[in-house]
Amino acid sequence: MGLTMYTSLLILTQFLVTLVLTSAGKVPAVIVFGDSSVDAGNNNQISTVLKSDFEPYGRDFVGGKPTGRFSNGRIPPDFISQAFGLKPTIPAYLDPNYSIKDFATGVCFASAGTGYDNATSDVLSVIPLWRELEYYKEYQKKLRAYLGTQKANEVISEALYLMSLGTNDFLENYYILPRRSSQYSIKQYQDFLGGIAEDFIRQLYSLGARKISLGGLPPMGCLPLERTMNFFSGSQCRDEYNNAAKEFNGKLKGLVVKLNRELKGIKVVLSNPYDILMQIIQKPSLFGFDVTAVACCATGTIEMGYTCDRYNPFTCTDASKYVFWDSFHPTEKTNSLISAHVIKHALAVFL
Ligand SMILES: *[C@@H]1O[C@H](CO)[C@@H](O)[C@H](O)[C@H]1NC(C)=O
Ligand SMILES: *[C@@H]1O[C@H](CO)[C@@H](O)[C@H](O)[C@H]1NC(C)=O
Repeated sequence: MGLTMYTSLLILTQFLVTLVLTSAGKVPAVIVFGDSSVDAGNNNQISTVLKSDFEPYGRDFVGGKPTGRFSNGRIPPDFISQAFGLKPTIPAYLDPNYSIKDFATGVCFASAGTGYDNATSDVLSVIPLWRELEYYKEYQKKLRAYLGTQKANEVISEALYLMSLGTNDFLENYYILPRRSSQYSIKQYQDFLGGIAEDFIRQLYSLGARKISLGGLPPMGCLPLERTMNFFSGSQCRDEYNNAAKEFNGKLKGLVVKLNRELKGIKVVLSNPYDILMQIIQKPSLFGFDVTAVACCATGTIEMGYTCDRYNPFTCTDASKYVFWDSFHPTEKTNSLISAHVIKHALAVFL
């Protein structure tokens, strides 16, 4: 009898502890900054050639609709939002179909083609990172008007902030244009970008953000476009680019440690897609994929954006067999696997 009582009490206590922990850890919104890896359609509303709001993009999205996401379906912030018990897709801030009512539980400021470096967003006239932050400040005002200051401040400090960018700084800028490569060695350029990332997180912190996921770089030398451009070496992954990504990720790791030490009450984690994506690329069949070196859309070697168009007869029929959707971006299935990985290994602390 006494034992049963004791057991019941124990269970009740555990239940209460779980309850408290769960509500304390709750994330009321997911707020996204970055490039095409996380852009839900902001580029639809700006004047740039880098767009994907047409078929066959989005053909596996709800309703088979192109949204401006650079994939056949959902992208990582969508999967992450859903895993946190929020909506299954995060709307783009510039999309006129949505308002603060929708954005209160998740909003995306990302812009395909952007980078940490202002010179990167200039290349294709997309939204620079500093302007993404300006939009976020505007969002805070709207959120306070909508929810009231106290509730809005709570959302701002409890929200999960995702940052995912950097690939374009290397692939669209440093390695192909002379401006930065004549100015910086690759290591100096990594430090330059790391400094901008640090500055950005400090600004987010001063605006009230506390839970931040800093995204690492993928093995960018294995993107189909980079393999295509590496044809003299048999279209293998480009080691130089992969090494630059790994090295940069190492520096981001150091930055995360530093910021957690210096900024009171902040929790920054590194969401690193490198190893899981490399495993998928090297052993695609383990994950149910057939094709990894070329993409689903068109010939799979160079096409993305406008060149990945609905009239191309080579586009594959089943994107779930492909690691990459276009020559630069993963399929929805790959996005889902990467998301599950970073949720388990980095974001679980916020769940
Ligand atoms: C947005 O609204 C317009 C006009 O009402 C509509 O034609 C369009 O399909 C909507 N787009 C999305 C993504 O819902
Ligand atoms: C990028 O441009 C903005 C706006 O002009 C400026 O405030 C910022 O300092 C620039 N960033 C860097 C790292 O130069």
